[in-house]
Amino acid sequence: MENLTFSLSKGRLTDDAVALFDKIGLKTNIDNSRKLVFQCGTNTFFLSKPGDVPTYVEYGAADVGIAGKDTILEEKRNVYEILDLGIGRCIMAVAGNKEIKNYDFVRVATKYPNIAKDYFDKRNQKAEIIKLNGSVELGCIVGLADVIVDIVESGRTLEENNLYVLEKICDISARVIVNKASLNVKHEAIWKLINNLKNVRECEGIK
Ligand code: PRP
Repeated sequence: MENLTFSLSKGRLTDDAVALFDKIGLKTNIDNSRKLVFQCGTNTFFLSKPGDVPTYVEYGAADVGIAGKDTILEEKRNVYEILDLGIGRCIMAVAGNKEIKNYDFVRVATKYPNIAKDYFDKRNQKAEIIKLNGSVELGCIVGLADVIVDIVESGRTLEENNLYVLEKICDISARVIVNKASLNVKHEAIWKLINNLKNVRECEGIK
């Protein structure tokens, strides 16, 4: 596995991704400093906002990225999605107050405007999508929106704010994405990486 550049999410996926790389003997040298780029042998690893990982991969600034399915669906970038790593599992859901069940027109607060629009469009349901950048639950609590579209992992944020999952949209987990040209040019290194990651997943019984 030589000469690959990796784009990794800074945040909830970082530790899990680094641990997985460790298991296949791929050192990253990522530490807790504020550095953004880490060199390890001939491989380079950089950390970015989760939503930017598919962008770096599409443009070839990184050969390989580890990104949540939420980000992949939202960003709609032109990359290959090669492997479901089975880590970072959560769901994408519509959430809100329990009373809101039969709604014809809704205002939706979300960090994921494309996912929300696609979901409500498919159901032929009129929705005004309001983009927020974080703490999306607040949108519902203070009356900015009727419902939110967001990821739910442990469910604690919803629970502690008296909100509920109303509808599940899809399952989310971390995926390996690959730049289209890199898959040709660095074919051998990338498939070796993918197979090693697949083996770890299988050995550990990650579903
Ligand atoms: C995410 C998500 C929810 C929360 C869900 O936010 O947007 O708010 O985590 O996790 P839980 O079900 O385990 O409570 P994140 O922590 O990434 O921060 P943000 O709201 O600032 O984006």
